[in-house]
Amino acid sequence: MGPFPLGRPARMAVFASGRGTNLEALLEAFPQGHPLGEVVLVVSDNPGAFALERARRRGVEAQALPWRGRRAFEEEALGLLEERRVDLVLLAGFMRLLSPRFVEPWYGRLLNLHPSLLPDYPGLRVHERVLAAGERETGSTVHFVDQGVDTGPILLQGRVPVLPGDTPKTLEARVLRLEHRLYPKAVRLLLLGLAFPPPSDLEERLGEEAARAFQVLSPREKPLYLRAWALLRAWGREERVGPAFLGQGGEWGRAAFLAAHLLGGSDPALLEEVAELPPEVRVQVEGALRVESSP
Ligand code: GAR
Repeated sequence: MGPFPLGRPARMAVFASGRGTNLEALLEAFPQGHPLGEVVLVVSDNPGAFALERARRRGVEAQALPWRGRRAFEEEALGLLEERRVDLVLLAGFMRLLSPRFVEPWYGRLLNLHPSLLPDYPGLRVHERVLAAGERETGSTVHFVDQGVDTGPILLQGRVPVLPGDTPKTLEARVLRLEHRLYPKAVRLLLLGLAFPPPSDLEERLGEEAARAFQVLSPREKPLYLRAWALLRAWGREERVGPAFLGQGGEWGRAAFLAAHLLGGSDPALLEEVAELPPEVRVQVEGALRVESSP
């Protein structure tokens, strides 16, 4: 259902075009020797990007691949990823579009960070557009990259308020602070095997009715269900996934959804409900929550 968990520390590459504050957050979260994975390579299409300097300062390989067209960049980048035995590619402020030649072989192992609550506000000048539309809330999205622009399956989202008097600059700063926590958290979920893009053979796996129940969910709701699925699988209860999606998963189904909410950043008040679960179920939920919060 996806390559993760790998059973060994993952080797990660970050692609960044500019100042690289999100790269910095990733370098901090996944330093050399981290049991889940480490950033081993930073690539930029812009030789002057401060992101490259951030990597060098931490002793991580930094490679500038100056933009000489998409085809040339992608060929060089693909070669480099293979040479360095990279398992996961993280786009962090990477401002170029990648073609299917790159995206297809990396699908499921290629993430992007986008400063809006996708599917709203894809593309550029996001904060300006959010303000012009009078939104009262915005946020950021980590998603699997597919062949569209900011369209791939969502992995994790976080929200922040838009305050009266905000400018694109103040809003950007608030969203960035959120992103510095959100991106490492999304990567942890992926590496732990608690996130994956929707499988293409849903019906065979879940049965027709449960597959339909999943398919009609909004793009923002799907990651929660996929986390619940991953948890049931990790607990050896995969046969409960279909029933759980239909609200018939019993205590295990409830537990999986509670844990999925908590792992996604929902209100910790839900922990009080975890405490009321039958002991053998509760132990599993607590184990899942512990794993995510450990280093
Ligand atoms: C981040 O806000 C990220 O979401 C956005 O660029 C910023 C990079 O900041 N990405 C995009 O807009 C992708 N289309 P950083 O260089 O300080 O990490």
